[in-house]
Amino acid sequence: MCGIVGYIGYRDAYPIVIKGLHRLEYRGYDSAGVALLDKELKVYKKAGKVNDLENFVKDIPLKGTLGMGHTRWATHGAPSDRNSHPHPSNSRKLTIIHNGIIENYATIKEALLTKGYKFKSDTDTEVLINLIEDIQKETGLDLQEAARLALNKVIGAYAIVIMCSTEPDLMIAARKGSPMVIGVGKGEYFVASDATPIVEYTKNVIYLNDNEIAYIRRDDLLIKNIDNTIQTPYIQELDLQLEMLEKGGYDHFMMKEIYEQPRSIRDCMRGRIYPERGIVQLGGIKEYTEKLKNIDRIIIVACGTSWHAGLVGEYLIEEYARVPVEVEYASEFRYRNPIISEKDLVIAISQSGETADTMAAIELAKEKGATIFGICNVVGASIPRITHAGVYTHAGPEIGVASTKAFTAQVTALTLMAFYIAQQRGTITQGKLIEYLTELNEIPDLIEKALQANDQIKEIAATYKDSNNCLFLGRGSSFPVALEGALKLKEISYIHAEGYPAAEMKHGPIALIDAEMPVVFIATKNSSHEKVVSNIQEVKARGGKVIAIVTEGDTIIKGMAEHVIEIPQTGEAFVPLLATIPLQLLSYHIAVMRGCNVDQPRNLAKSVTVE
Ligand code: F6R
Repeated sequence: MCGIVGYIGYRDAYPIVIKGLHRLEYRGYDSAGVALLDKELKVYKKAGKVNDLENFVKDIPLKGTLGMGHTRWATHGAPSDRNSHPHPSNSRKLTIIHNGIIENYATIKEALLTKGYKFKSDTDTEVLINLIEDIQKETGLDLQEAARLALNKVIGAYAIVIMCSTEPDLMIAARKGSPMVIGVGKGEYFVASDATPIVEYTKNVIYLNDNEIAYIRRDDLLIKNIDNTIQTPYIQELDLQLEMLEKGGYDHFMMKEIYEQPRSIRDCMRGRIYPERGIVQLGGIKEYTEKLKNIDRIIIVACGTSWHAGLVGEYLIEEYARVPVEVEYASEFRYRNPIISEKDLVIAISQSGETADTMAAIELAKEKGATIFGICNVVGASIPRITHAGVYTHAGPEIGVASTKAFTAQVTALTLMAFYIAQQRGTITQGKLIEYLTELNEIPDLIEKALQANDQIKEIAATYKDSNNCLFLGRGSSFPVALEGALKLKEISYIHAEGYPAAEMKHGPIALIDAEMPVVFIATKNSSHEKVVSNIQEVKARGGKVIAIVTEGDTIIKGMAEHVIEIPQTGEAFVPLLATIPLQLLSYHIAVMRGCNVDQPRNLAKSVTVE
């Protein structure tokens, strides 16, 4: 949701903090701010992007070897200078940055107001820093203890960093439900929402756990639990290269990430499939092999694009492993009273591993006794830590806010899981596995081929860039691909788009079709090809403009559609991995032509850590 970064050491903090904010900007970009402690504690903040903050402070000498910064995605209070972080306390001795939500802030605020506290912003964060100040004032305790007691009083999620004008060798960081990584250097420490601002300074990191507070000095790190017990930190080495965080010659991260898909899918499969022997190995869920033989049902929980991947997973798991699958929006699942038993397996899918609704769904299913697997991209994120077992997608850092390579990696991981479960339950023969895994192994090369349609897709984008509406239609496992195509277009180009099962079109959406309406069909050669051909004719009969994603060599649809984009021939199970590529490119080019910020679409954030 928001991005936070902090530094304490011997170097100038500002350049580290501002660079870190640029790296974290994908998490929120409606305002930004920094705090620096030299002789005095100085706070600078501004509505707008990190660049606006940089321009705002460009003529100010920014000194201090202790500093922190924040890039915001507004929850409480509109994006404005005064609601931007850091937030000073009433005395201005303390200042805080915060990612998350303090749910009981209104009650605390009321109590503080009666004591005469004044609030300059509409945020829950300003309430927390004044609560700490108030506890210190009332009890005479030191800042460390006052912060700990205050955190015991708040309900909600937070990752916070606190600085104090009279404590030039102290930075306090704490987390509950929002991520926080500590980078360990020599005579210096870094804190951040993820490791991307840290990686160029140190590869040694500690992922703070929920309910932990870190008291960080230049030469000392003390981590305590919120109940005051000292914790032993686990230092691990980052598996992250700096070039993964750069655009690498592309105009946008989104385009770079689209083009990375042959690599990211290979990475997802590496060491997990042995096509010539027909074997799938998933070390992360190995210890649950026996359990998989006896499960009654699989429930997939996820949000957004990850939910679309889950729908593809449903087709694959039911087809090959013959287990009934339900796919649920995590946000709905968590507020129903779902019927779950110990014989259920819940698979939670999340790129970021931090999505609040998905995490709540996991906790609920866990309480009810289900076994939970995670499919996540970000290593060390919260979801992989609260699930029983899981599979990392290994797509690498996804910086573009609209998900591309994470989606295809999730679908790949689900494909592997479907075959793995099928293998354990004996619902697939060795011969078939050899055949399927051989096809799956070729997918990265076929994606390279699908990417060659880029120039053609750019021309199609030019034709439809001014459309107001667009329909995406597909059948079977191409239906979730249609949903994903529509989501991609609407989130980055702001064109209204809907995805439907192709046959559902005549039950309503057909009314929308006219000569202005592009309709994108995923119409590859598979068991429902003829049916989709009929659906295309229905659109043509009403003057609609058809863009069809077809299997190479398809002459039937070529004669009917305005535009035909070919993807290579592959097995039916793997079509979603290929058919997604042209849809990503189409959205990308339309959004660029409309002058939209494709990497940071308005109102969105990469990790949705609030419900
Ligand atoms: C869309 C997109 C979002 C996410 C959703 C879930 O391009 O990225 O719809 O898929 O917010 O996020 P994760 O996968 O991190 O749980």
